[in-house]
Order: sequence, then structure tokens, then C-alpha cells
Amino acid sequence: MATSQKLSLLILTLLVVLQLYFSSAEAAIKGGYWYSGSGLSVSDINPSHFTHLFCAFADLDLQTNTLTISPANAAQFSTFTQTLQAKNPSVKTLLSIGGGGGHDLVANFSKMASQASSRKTFIDSSIQLARKNNFHGLDLDWEYPSTNTDKTNFGSLIKEWRAAVARDSSNTGKPALLLSAAVGGSAQITELQFYPGQDIANNLDWVNVMAYDLFRSDDYPTLTQPPAPLRNPRGQFSADEGVTKWIQLGVPQSKLALGLPFYGFKWSLSDPNQHRLFAPATKGLGQVKYKDIKNAGAQIVYNSTFVTNYCFKGTDWFGYDDTQSIAAKVSYAKQKGLFGYFAWQIEQDSNWALSQAASQAWGS
Ligand SMILES: *[C@@H]1O[C@H](CO)[C@@H](O)[C@H](O)[C@H]1NC(C)=O
Ligand SMILES: *[C@@H]1O[C@H](CO)[C@@H](O)[C@H](O)[C@H]1NC(C)=O
Repeated sequence: MATSQKLSLLILTLLVVLQLYFSSAEAAIKGGYWYSGSGLSVSDINPSHFTHLFCAFADLDLQTNTLTISPANAAQFSTFTQTLQAKNPSVKTLLSIGGGGGHDLVANFSKMASQASSRKTFIDSSIQLARKNNFHGLDLDWEYPSTNTDKTNFGSLIKEWRAAVARDSSNTGKPALLLSAAVGGSAQITELQFYPGQDIANNLDWVNVMAYDLFRSDDYPTLTQPPAPLRNPRGQFSADEGVTKWIQLGVPQSKLALGLPFYGFKWSLSDPNQHRLFAPATKGLGQVKYKDIKNAGAQIVYNSTFVTNYCFKGTDWFGYDDTQSIAAKVSYAKQKGLFGYFAWQIEQDSNWALSQAASQAWGS
């Protein structure tokens, strides 16, 4: 072989190795939240459909400004990573902080983030807790920052967090902890202007865009609705609109994960023979898990205009995401160049049908 040929071969080999290296690093997220209150035990999770699993939730203790795990959760949280990696060695785990805990919790986040000293205590304790329990990262679920002061403090918090995580990595020699946040997915839910887009782009690995709960049956009891439509030709509020708003805030597509609800909402129809989207209803009957909707044995329809499923039986009507709308949303996320998707929450799935449909739609 001539020297020039050897050289080209070497360069080619190097390129292939580099490509393999980068494509095996955080290329995409196929995420799912496990919620401790759901009753699903960690050992019953099938992690093969996921690249990242979120352990929800650790708590902010305002007395000490530290992150804590409630005693009832301690055993499952401390073995979360080990249990899942025994089945899928490449799965990454993140400890989720907060959640939709209501007024009290929101006020507590605002307060902790408002002072440099409480932010430092919180950040240091979160890193310590994540390391002690073998998580690969931390996920902030502050639902939601709602003033300009919150916006500034949220920005300071994640900037300081990023610096602390980098310090921890150089001190320990371990890969840096991942830092993500679950964020509002629509102006229907919360005002997105109170998120510091540029700070998020600079300091978080990605955000989970909660593009669901847009049309809940308790808010819209008189007409059936697509609860989390990808598109909305009738006007305002859709997952696509939420994604567009996030990009306008300055967060690149490659740092956005699209939220998929593994639950729907139930309505009672006024007339069992009028069962389309936006059909008259007598009342909203609340949130229902995907697995319970499947068990209702109702007739299923996929509407590709809104990208939603719905089903009906007698006067029971459910708006939700089934395998068709989940696959269509995931294909959209991929085409749009998003980082991936995540599900809230995995216990609501029916024999992993939605988890599998999502993973297949994304591909490898
Ligand atoms: C908020 O902080 C108060 C005072 O420390 C505490 O009693 C309460 O449990 C906290 N709320 C939540 C939801 O963490
Ligand atoms: C979706 O539902 C809307 C409202 O009922 C209807 O106008 C539209 O034609 C449906 N799209 C499809 C593809 O069936």
C-alpha cells in the first residue's frame, strides 16, 4: 500500500471512530418520568424503551434550603439507578425536584432562589444528594416561575448550578451531572415570558416542554376537546405553538424535549350519537390514565388534523394520546430537530404500548 493510501485509510478510520463516539454521546432523549406516588415499583419498569428516566420527586426543605428525599421514598430512590441499569446499562437517571405540588411549593422555590446564600446551600445539597444516590443528573420542576423577579432568580440559580456541577466534575473526575428542567409548554398553562431563555440555553443540557393539559375537561366541560393537540387549526394553543414559543425565547431546538401525556381526559356526551371533537358535553369527568382508557373498550378514532386520539362508548368520551398520535408527535419532534421527547408518567402506560410506539417512531 502506498503511503498516501495508508494515510487516507487512517483518516477514514479516524472519522468513523469519531462519528461513533459522538453519536453514542447524548444524541437524543427518549425520556420517561417515574412517579413514586403512582404505585409502580422501580423493579417493574421496562427501561429498554428509554434513554433517560426521571425519578420524581425530591423535596425542597425550606427550613434548611436543602434538597431531601422523603423517608418513604428513600429505599426506591437510592437503588433507582442500579435497578434500571441492571436491565439497560446505558440508561441515564435524573433526580427530579419539585413537581406540580401547588401554591406552597411554588412559593418555596421563589424564596429559595431569591438569595445567593440559599441558592448555594440548595445547589450544594442537590449535588451531594445526586452523587450519594448514584443519579446521572438533576431535573428542576419549578412549576412555575411567574414574575420578573422569579425570572432573574431562575437565571441565577441555573448559572450557579452549572458552575457548581462543573466544579464537582473536576473535583471527582466523574462526568458532569446532567442538568434539565421541566417547563411550561404553552401560554395556556403559564406565561412563558417568565423563563430566562438565554440563561436556559447557556446553562441547562435541555428542557422538558410540558406540552399537555391544554384543554382539560374540568376547564372545558361543555364541549369535547383534544387535551394535548400537536396542531390547532381553530386558533390558540397547541404543542407546536409551545415549541415555537420556546425557540423564540432563545432555546435551540436541540435542547427541547417534547412532552407526551400518558393520560387523557373524560367527558360525558350530551348525545351519544354526536361523538366528534368539539361535540356537546354535559360535564367534564377529570383525568384518566391511558391504561384505564384502553380498558374502557371504546371505539377509537385518530384525528390527524389536530394529532390526537379520542374514543367513545355510550355517553363516555375520552380525549387522549394513543399509539397513532404519540408516533405522529415523536416524528414531528425528530423532523423538527428536537432533542427528543419525554412521557409523564410511565405507570399510566398499558403494557409499555405508548413507550414502545414512541421509541420506534424516533428510531435509533
Ligand atoms: C414549603 O415550606 C414550608 C416551610 O418550610 C413547609 O412547611 C412546606 O411543607 C413546604 N411545601 C412544600 C410543598 O414543599
Ligand atoms: C378532525 O376533527 C375536526 C373537528 O371535528 C374535523 O373538522 C376534521 O375534519 C377532522 N380531521 C380528520 C382528518 O378527520
